[in-house]
Amino acid sequence: DVIREWFGLNHLEHQLKEQLGLNKVIVVAGNSLTQTWVKNDLGRAAVQQLKQWAEPHSVVSVAGGTTMEAVAQVMTPHPVLRTLLYVPARGGLGEKVEYQANTICSQMAARSGGQYRLLHVPDQLSEEAYESLLHDEQIQEIIKLVKSARIVIHGIGEANTMATRRKASPETLAKLKNKQAVAEAFGFYFDRNGNIVHKIQTVGLKLEDIKQAEHIIAVAGGQDKAPAILAFLKHGVHDCLITDEGAAREMLQYI
Ligand code: G3H
Repeated sequence: DVIREWFGLNHLEHQLKEQLGLNKVIVVAGNSLTQTWVKNDLGRAAVQQLKQWAEPHSVVSVAGGTTMEAVAQVMTPHPVLRTLLYVPARGGLGEKVEYQANTICSQMAARSGGQYRLLHVPDQLSEEAYESLLHDEQIQEIIKLVKSARIVIHGIGEANTMATRRKASPETLAKLKNKQAVAEAFGFYFDRNGNIVHKIQTVGLKLEDIKQAEHIIAVAGGQDKAPAILAFLKHGVHDCLITDEGAAREMLQYI
């Protein structure tokens, strides 16, 4: 705590909480843009928070990405975490396997001793395939579970970085540029005012569903993500932000 005080982390947390109207903000030291180990600290802080909010047998819906992977990596067996059911927030978004929500759920369950369910949805869905999947009984059952999640945990990405990483088509990249997308979360893309400007067609949570959860934990750090984090938070679906000093100081320059 003394160290946190020295580095001014408590002060940063307080300022962000007030200015962004969040219920809880945790700022870890460093900048994950330039210091790779900071992502692990974000992961540890997220697991800590999850332990505080989890109740036995809670359903936790989990998004994808490298930050969520870092969260899964630092999980260890724990009396409450081992009773949880981890489900992916949305189906395939075009990510590499290790960063897909499905994989991360299974990792979280494996490391903490909990249970998981998967959403078997292919990445590129035609309109007809999408419609028929929505009627599939097993998919419906999992979607129901996902929607019942008490806790949602997710990353936030910079729009262009995410679209490029997911090998979006030139048309999609042009659309995102045209609509001035700056942020991405759960496969939804947002402009700087928090409006959704594009969504990846898949099944799972809608952003309105997320509001039903008791706790929403966003985990995103790195100085370069500041505009994306602010844009996503403007959408209004937020509760707890776990970030790093790099992103926190940069965000305070913008607000
Ligand atoms: O869905 C992915 C997230 O929005 C961000 O991914 O944690 O790898 O930056 P990341």
